[in-house]
Amino acid sequence: MFAYIIDKIVPYTDSTIHISDLALQRGYGIFDFFRVRNKKPLFLEDHLDRFYASAGKMLLQSPVDRNELTDIIITLVEKNNLSDAGVKVLLTGGYAEDGYTITQPNLIVVVQPFKYPSEQQLQSGVKIITVNFRKELPDIKTINYQKAIMMTPAVKAANAVDLVYHHDGIISELPRCNFFIVTQEDVIKTPDQQILLGVTRKKVLQLARKKYKVEECSITLNDVYNAKEAFFTSSTKRIVPVVKVDDYMIGSGKPGKITLDLLSGLIQHEDEVLR
Ligand SMILES: Cc1ncc(COP(=O)(O)O)c(C=O)c1O
Repeated sequence: MFAYIIDKIVPYTDSTIHISDLALQRGYGIFDFFRVRNKKPLFLEDHLDRFYASAGKMLLQSPVDRNELTDIIITLVEKNNLSDAGVKVLLTGGYAEDGYTITQPNLIVVVQPFKYPSEQQLQSGVKIITVNFRKELPDIKTINYQKAIMMTPAVKAANAVDLVYHHDGIISELPRCNFFIVTQEDVIKTPDQQILLGVTRKKVLQLARKKYKVEECSITLNDVYNAKEAFFTSSTKRIVPVVKVDDYMIGSGKPGKITLDLLSGLIQHEDEVLR
């Protein structure tokens, strides 16, 4: 396996970075993550848009432009010879002598083997728990996942697969996924505030609007507990049905019809764009 570090492709085992980097010293950095299917990056333009937007908001100047970065990604995917994989593109604050000042950002590109949610999770649905927390920079894909990682034992203890954040009862998103509900009236709703604009969220909204009533709006904890269906979306997971939130069963306790319809629509859309 190979990775791109700073300015060149190196064997994965040699992919090291100096201790003075601001990512290590202060947790300062941004990234993006997308899937490669049959060696083709999926929705790459959307991910590059978000990557450069995150970098700009964090005052990080990428050492390579969009075309150069695309070439690096394609070369790395070829060299690693993985037809289905995840690609992480990360930009750090750079080497800072004082451990505080942004310098020349360091670029890291890693290609990783990758697993879809299990058949069992898709067929039976999953449980998530709610956590009261407000993210500092929700619209930027920063490398800070501290709260989520800290909550991992609590998620496991609750027999859940993940958590969804709310702030004083208003739902935002999961640590790595966007969240949706389907109301008893079959309206698809997803939060519009305090979230990262997921690429999968965007694709699902586009697909959903062709067939269903859709609202990007405020969603409360109560809305979630009383929903007919719930699911979360991300580049790695596509769409995962949620059948339990805290101790509340969602709908019939089985993956919902609209959720599964959107999942098959999304897979079909992926097939079309990769053809
Ligand atoms: C905070 C957060 N929200 C949502 C998502 C889902 O975004 P996407 O669909 O682009 O993978 C991610 C992805 O990692 C994320 O980190």
